[in-house]
Amino acid sequence: MRIGILTGGGDCPGLNAVIRGIVKSSPDDVEILGIMHGWKGLVNPEYTVLTDDDVEGIHIIGGTILGTSRTNPFKDEESRKKLEENIKQLGIDVIIAIGGDDTLSVAAKLSSLGYNVIGVPKTIDNDVSNTDFTFGYHTAVNVGADAIDRLHSTAKSHGRVIIVELMGRDAGWITIEAGLAAGAHLILIPEYPMTLDEIIEYVKKRMEDKGYMIIAVAEGFKPTELENIVGDKNEIDAFGHIRLGGIAHYLSEIIKERTGYDTRSVVLGHLLRGGTPTAFDRVLGTRYGVHAMKLVINRDFGRMVALKGNDIVSIPLQYAIATKKFVPFDYYKLAQIFFG
Ligand code: F6P
Repeated sequence: MRIGILTGGGDCPGLNAVIRGIVKSSPDDVEILGIMHGWKGLVNPEYTVLTDDDVEGIHIIGGTILGTSRTNPFKDEESRKKLEENIKQLGIDVIIAIGGDDTLSVAAKLSSLGYNVIGVPKTIDNDVSNTDFTFGYHTAVNVGADAIDRLHSTAKSHGRVIIVELMGRDAGWITIEAGLAAGAHLILIPEYPMTLDEIIEYVKKRMEDKGYMIIAVAEGFKPTELENIVGDKNEIDAFGHIRLGGIAHYLSEIIKERTGYDTRSVVLGHLLRGGTPTAFDRVLGTRYGVHAMKLVINRDFGRMVALKGNDIVSIPLQYAIATKKFVPFDYYKLAQIFFG
């Protein structure tokens, strides 16, 4: 049997642990092709045979040894044809796609066309539904919390409002958990918009009481009165997403203008995604990889591995992409207790 594995979308700590888990748990009669740069490596074939030696010790390394891209092979007819031809030509019996909702939506399409596909949920945003966690998320929260911890002393010394921007396109998981862990005084996430007036109110009160403030904001947050999210509309990826970034700077200018307080903005961005995974993400990635191979051995295709409580289970791929997992209101209400 020949299995093609690929990593698609934004990279994330723990990808290499999944790859290692798959390769190390594969039976002797299975050959693993590592497809390079996500779906791109199947549209324009680029791959490498992966052996035990190739994956030795890689679970502690960030990023992905296979490279990644945001290629959408279903974006045009020519790419789709090439994709299908190459799967046949390379003799790939099974594809294991490791990615977020975009990568998994391609996997689900292939599955509905009759291909043998397994999905592994990945994204630092943690917004893939029907799994408790995606790997990489835990690492991102730790990096974010550490950064916010550090901002307290400088904000306090200068009596400033520091607005720190964290990744999170549609869901505010990283921002709420890093913000809660590190005691941000206001947490702004896409799920629960707030007006600029409300934000200014929080700032005035906190600054009068305590003299400094940290605001954690997710890149996808949009004040109620803004029509569009802040981002670069000229940069749209193959799945139709605009490149986000700039909300911290935007808020910083407005807060300064309307309150007169000294403000600074910090964008954590890709720092959250880089570097070595936490022990939790190494183990979660490893367990996902081993379970994905188990599904292959059982010929249980069209499924995505998932974490439920402390168990690794599998669910139909279609469920994973049907909805996104957002921060529930009760959780946001809990965070609100610590605002101000
Ligand atoms: O993978 C998800 C994500 O990290 C989002 O949080 C973010 O908006 C996006 O990727 C950034 O992508 P890129 O690496 O292409 O700038």
